[in-house]
Amino acid sequence: MNEPVKHIAIIMDGNGRWATKRGLPRTAGHKRGAEVVIDISKAAKEAGVKYLTLYAFSTENWKRPKDEVDTLMNLLRQYLSENFEELNKNDIRICFIGEREMLASDIIEKMQYLEEKTKNNSSATLQIALSYGSRAEITNTVKKIAQKVKNGDMSLESIDEKTISDMLYTKGIPDPDILIRTSGEQRLSNYLLWQLAYSEFFFTPTYWPDFTKEELYEIIKTYQSRERRYGKI
Ligand code: FPP
Repeated sequence: MNEPVKHIAIIMDGNGRWATKRGLPRTAGHKRGAEVVIDISKAAKEAGVKYLTLYAFSTENWKRPKDEVDTLMNLLRQYLSENFEELNKNDIRICFIGEREMLASDIIEKMQYLEEKTKNNSSATLQIALSYGSRAEITNTVKKIAQKVKNGDMSLESIDEKTISDMLYTKGIPDPDILIRTSGEQRLSNYLLWQLAYSEFFFTPTYWPDFTKEELYEIIKTYQSRERRYGKI
């Protein structure tokens, strides 16, 4: 059928287990995982995928031990400063979704800088879910809509699915065709609950640090051989 794949969403899981298996600290897994982010972003673009959304840090991840959270934040600092330049060179636009206000101010500034610097890149978009939780996203959207109705800026009758889609953090970005979760876990973990309504799910036992572009391309090929019916027959 070869349906084009516009958008892939990934839950990058298994960094900790990858490291533990090798007798390394968990943070070594996150480090290797961050390198894979760059490789897979370029590989997705090469395959013609226009949007890639990666779950880098969930609202629940704030509850991890402080030193692990600090390491992840430092990795992010480093990556936002150094490695993302490479994505810019590849004409990839970068944007972020999530509860920004929970992040350190220097990280927020870097995020804004990257969004601004890459805003005209048009080969592909890398959307990074950072301090993200889907229920919080939906709750915020409900509040925004309620406020508009209360102010008289929107009628109750006019609210439909598009109203909601257009007010989520992901506004303007088509829903994912494919969801991939690495490491063998089969859960959504509060990721894009609204947006994944009709996506095809792929669960692979591979830990994120071992995930390769060959595996990505294999998943795309399998997706293209599946038939999506969107509830129709
Ligand atoms: C899940 O593995 C992964 C994370 C919580 C963080 C993902 C972050 C990265 C890949 C690196 C930074 C990202 C960017 C965008 C530079 P886990 O720790 O839950 O692994 P486990 O389930 O084996 O413990």
